[in-house]
Amino acid sequence: MDNTHIKIQGGVPLNGQIEVFGEKNSVAKIMVASLLSDKPSILRNICHVVDTELMTNVIRAVGGEAEEIEERVIRIENKDIHNMDEKTLQEVVGKSRVPILLCGPLLARTGEAIIPALGGDIIGNRPVDLHLTALKKMGAKIEEKASGIYLKAKKLHGRPIRLDYPSVGATEQILMAAVLAEGITQLSNAAIEPQIMDLVVTLRQMGADIIFEPERTFIINGVNSLSGYDHTAIPDRLEIASWACVALGTNGKISVTDARAEHMRSFLDKFEAAGGAFTIKDHGMEFWRGEDVITPTHVETDVSPGFATDWQPPFAVVLTQANGQSIVHETVYESRFGYVEALNKMGADITLEKRCRGMLCRFNDEYYHTAIINGPTPLHGAEIEVPDIRAGFSYIVGALMAQGTTTVTNSQILNRGYEKFTEKLQNLGAQLL
Ligand code: UD1
Repeated sequence: MDNTHIKIQGGVPLNGQIEVFGEKNSVAKIMVASLLSDKPSILRNICHVVDTELMTNVIRAVGGEAEEIEERVIRIENKDIHNMDEKTLQEVVGKSRVPILLCGPLLARTGEAIIPALGGDIIGNRPVDLHLTALKKMGAKIEEKASGIYLKAKKLHGRPIRLDYPSVGATEQILMAAVLAEGITQLSNAAIEPQIMDLVVTLRQMGADIIFEPERTFIINGVNSLSGYDHTAIPDRLEIASWACVALGTNGKISVTDARAEHMRSFLDKFEAAGGAFTIKDHGMEFWRGEDVITPTHVETDVSPGFATDWQPPFAVVLTQANGQSIVHETVYESRFGYVEALNKMGADITLEKRCRGMLCRFNDEYYHTAIINGPTPLHGAEIEVPDIRAGFSYIVGALMAQGTTTVTNSQILNRGYEKFTEKLQNLGAQLL
């Protein structure tokens, strides 16, 4: 086994306890928020994944200091900042989607922002039109080139902004642009994922004036300057759900320290509906299969507080073992079923449809965004290649549930979202060859 593939002998229940740290999508964004201030910030409970390392490098490349001063505690200080030089820009191109969020801090502190072409998982078009439309409305001049996005603004101005869709990234973008803008930004139809609320808590600690109103609305009154923060990132609810799926799928029992039910309500409802069981403890949660059989379940992904799209792939794999037909309707990304072919190769019976099942969504009739899963189908080992993070973990779940040996190639992608996942698998008793 090297870091590009993993070989699993399936059919063994996984049992034991694992630790989960700060949510990858929260840690990297809160690191970006530190750039809004020239005062020091402390971020605790960081995860060691690619985006954290990349943002550490980006902060250093724009003139800041970032250092892990003790285990999982990073200190950041950005006295004077500037844009990335050409070399760093080239190193960052295509690696992550987080750098798009540098717009607000770089514009506020330097009057211009150069954003490298973005990366991230190939699960749909993933445009940034909502980000750029909002920044333009706030007064930024924007030029899009093949190499990246170039923005200029002496000062951004608060405006009423209504998102056509409650995009997580666009909401983070507007929050970080509005906190130092002149005047009031009323952001409506905003995303309210736990990672957004974690960012808002941090920005408020820095001195930002943000009010949360009903109906997905934030009122942000721009201030002249912000101080630093001392913040502990929320645990990774996306990783926690993945391990819960492992417990359900392999008929094992897994405890996850620091897991918080309040961040995962809609996952837990579907987990229970499918036959999963859990207990909430003082410092975490424990997950296992509560019924003899897995029950077919209808899942629709949605923005928070709905069932998160990142929970979908590992949960769908478990449903291949349900006693009957399950339906998974993906409404957030248009092509999030790239993993189905590999699962069918392992013996699953999953067909994709273009039509919506349940509520009508933006993708009706245009994209294969509904999966019909007929179970139970015994899975057998195969050689399969990981296309993106969550699909990658779903292959791991499939491999753990299958009879025989599965070789998962391109498995290094999993390091983008799952810290030390092979070590965790081993600790839980997985048979890695
Ligand atoms: C973030 C998470 C990702 C998660 C997603 C939804 C990070 C690094 N990634 O991604 O793990 O799956 O939230 O919870 O935090 N859209 C547009 N125009 C835009 C922006 C988005 O059309 O300008 C569309 C996207 O194509 C997609 C949908 O909106 O179909 C959701 O995207 P968004 O919520 O912005 O996700 P990300 O912030 O990219």
